[in-house]
Amino acid sequence: MAKQALQVAIDGPASAGKSTVAKLVAKRFGYIYVDTGAMYRAVTYWAMQHDVDLTDGHAVIAAMKTLKISFKPGEPDQLVFANQEDITAAIRQPDVTNNVSTIAALPQVRTILTDQQREMATAGGIVMDGRDIGTTVLPDAEVKIFLVASAAERAKRRYAENIKKGIDTPLDQLQAEIELRDHKDSTRKVSPLTQAADATLVDTTPMSIDEVVAAIAEIITKKQSSTI
Ligand code: DC
Repeated sequence: MAKQALQVAIDGPASAGKSTVAKLVAKRFGYIYVDTGAMYRAVTYWAMQHDVDLTDGHAVIAAMKTLKISFKPGEPDQLVFANQEDITAAIRQPDVTNNVSTIAALPQVRTILTDQQREMATAGGIVMDGRDIGTTVLPDAEVKIFLVASAAERAKRRYAENIKKGIDTPLDQLQAEIELRDHKDSTRKVSPLTQAADATLVDTTPMSIDEVVAAIAEIITKKQSSTI
């Protein structure tokens, strides 16, 4: 019998390993992977390119009218496009990273991106990662995971990733930035980062990527057999 094409929501703070894990889980089940953080980053990049005041919601949504965000398969990273422009690397640069929380706090932006994300998930067979997927975007997702790790461990992982990309930010600065983003993401008024009541908490601090993927795969497989 065909396996159910489920909606899998993976939320958690910055650098908890969500996108790495979500991508591998999607591959294992043949599901589509959607990185919603990349969508907030794309809007931030676009607004900065157009010299828009990032705190002005009206100006940001006016700029968004000329932006179409899309994803294409790529290795090791999924490619992200703003219209025809490949912005995969640009949206990971520190200037975008340090401004994205401001954009993510704008209710008008969240409404537009949430609608686009729900549209992408309608057919199921999707792994979506972000901050508010299990609580707001897909409250009925069959599988909800809340992925956490200590701030020190997350800074270490981000440092190693950055070095590979030629970005050389000191470790203590990375940890301070991660803690600041945690604070902004979890205290903002609209859709703050919180664990959904029915999400499974996975603390990845002592776990390898393979262990995290295996733990989530087991949850999905169980759910698939219980919903057939
Ligand atoms: O996961 P990330 O670091 O690429 O996310 C970038 C920013 O976008 C982060 O500050 C939180 C925000 N975000 C959000 O508010 N809601 C989401 N669903 C995904 C990301």
